[in-house]
Amino acid sequence: MIINTISQNEIVSIIMYVFIAFVLMTLLLIFFYYFSTKKINRIQLENKDIEISYQKELINSVLLTQEAERKRIAQDLHDDISSKLNIISINAHLLETAVLNEEERIKIAATIKQYAKFVAEDSRRIAHDLLPPVLQKFGLDAGIEGLCSELSNLKSLNIDYKNDVVFDIKDNDKHLHVFRIIQELINNSIKHGEAKNITINFSKKEDLIILNYVDDGKGFDTEIIDNQKGLGMKNIDSRITFLNAEMQIKSAVNKGVHFIIDFRI
Ligand SMILES: Nc1ncnc2c1ncn2[C@@H]1O[C@H](COP(=O)(O)OP(=O)(O)O)[C@@H](O)[C@H]1O
Ligand SMILES: [Mg+2]
Repeated sequence: MIINTISQNEIVSIIMYVFIAFVLMTLLLIFFYYFSTKKINRIQLENKDIEISYQKELINSVLLTQEAERKRIAQDLHDDISSKLNIISINAHLLETAVLNEEERIKIAATIKQYAKFVAEDSRRIAHDLLPPVLQKFGLDAGIEGLCSELSNLKSLNIDYKNDVVFDIKDNDKHLHVFRIIQELINNSIKHGEAKNITINFSKKEDLIILNYVDDGKGFDTEIIDNQKGLGMKNIDSRITFLNAEMQIKSAVNKGVHFIIDFRI
C-alpha cells in the first residue's frame, strides 16, 4: 500500500507545509483586509473633503449673491430715490427762501409733486423687485402667474404656465426658493438663450412635486455646464440643496433647455 510507503518524517513535513501555507494565507488575508479598509477609509475621507468644499462653494455663492443684491439695491436707492429726494429738497428750499412770483411758485410746487410721485413709484418698484407682494399675499402660484404676465408684456416672449398643484401659503418660505429658481431660469432663457417660448409646468406624483421648465433658445452643452456655472446657476444649486430637491438638466446647443426639478413640500 502507498500509505505504508510514506515515512513518518514525510507525514510530519507535509503537515508542516500545510500549516505554513495556512499561516501564510491567513497573513495574506489580514494584510489584504488591512490595506483594503485603509483604502476605503481614504476614499471616504476624500469624498467628505469633496462634499465639504462643495458646501463651502455653495455658501460662498449665497454670500456673493447677497452682496450683488445689496449692491443693486444700493444703486437703485442712490440713483432712483436719493437723487429725486434731493431735487424735492432743493425745490422746497427755493419755495421757502427765494422771492418768487405766483407763476414760479406754481411751477416749483408742480415739480415737487411730480418728483414725489416718481419717488413713490420707484420705491414701490424696488420693494416689488425684492419681494413681489403677490407672492407674499397669495402664494407661489399667483406669484409665478404675475411674473409671467409681467414678462410677457415687456418682452417679445411667450410664457406658457400650467399648474396642477395646490401650494399651501404656510410653506411660503420654501416656495420663495422655487420662485427665485424660476426667476433665474427665465432670466437665463432671455439673456443667454434668447428664447421666444418658455413652458413652466408643475405636476404632482404622490407627494412629489415636479417642475418642468422648457425653453426654445440657444441651449448649451450639458457636458461643460458645470465649468460654466456663474452666480445664477450656483445660486440655483444652493436653493436646490435647501429644498432637498433633485435637478436634472437636459440641453444641447441650439436645442433649447429642459430643467426637471423634483421636490417635496
Ligand atoms: N436657458 C439657457 N440658454 C442658454 N444658455 C444657458 C441657459 N441657462 C444657462 N445657460 C448657460 O449657463 C451659463 C451660466 O449661467 P448663470 O450661472 O446663470 O450665469 P450668469 O450669472 O452669467 O447668468 C451661462 O453663461 C450660459 O452659457
Ligand atoms: Mg444667470
